[in-house]
Amino acid sequence: MDSLLIASNNKAKTKEIKRILGKFYKNILTPAEIGLNIEVDETGTSFEENAVLKAKAFSDASGMDAIADDSGLVVDALGGAPGIYSARFSREGTDEANNRLLLEKLKGVPEHERKARYIACVAIVFKDGKILTTEGKSEGRILESPIGENGFGYDPLFYDENFKKSYAQLTPEQKDSISHRGKALRLLADKLEKIIK
Ligand code: IMP
Repeated sequence: MDSLLIASNNKAKTKEIKRILGKFYKNILTPAEIGLNIEVDETGTSFEENAVLKAKAFSDASGMDAIADDSGLVVDALGGAPGIYSARFSREGTDEANNRLLLEKLKGVPEHERKARYIACVAIVFKDGKILTTEGKSEGRILESPIGENGFGYDPLFYDENFKKSYAQLTPEQKDSISHRGKALRLLADKLEKIIK
């Protein structure tokens, strides 16, 4: 296929998408590279709706196939919060304030009730209007205090039982191998493979 537009200028996301979907497209471009600057309100009620909303807006604006993702943290003891509101959980909306609020809300909750998962939904909207979506999940638990310097968002509080480390203690390669976004992208690659054949 010809060209794919990523509905984000985020460098880490761009790199990961290029690595996993590079074999399907001659060009994979960012909005900055084609001089496109649009804001999409995430008004959906699920990760999937928000991913499709973003991909459709970028496809409509560019006339290209476009890919978008939406992701967040789902905590069982909080009835699934912060979920689709993960980026704006606290009033300030910074990683530090979001993590502080998460710890406050889980104060006194014992280890075995601190189960959580990251969820990512990835959507491609093709220029003919067809839509492909996939979802990836990674399971973990919320620590009682942050540890580690890598990653972003809730990573210093999100503990992986297999590595026995927080996501912020993993190398980027280790995180990619188990992350929700990596899983959703690899599932999307499987689906694209079938369409192209
Ligand atoms: P978005 O899908 O890029 O808008 O991300 C939504 C929010 O979910 C981020 O701002 C983070 O708070 C959280 N989030 C999503 N993926 C991750 C991750 O891999 N690590 C840490 N936080 C994440």
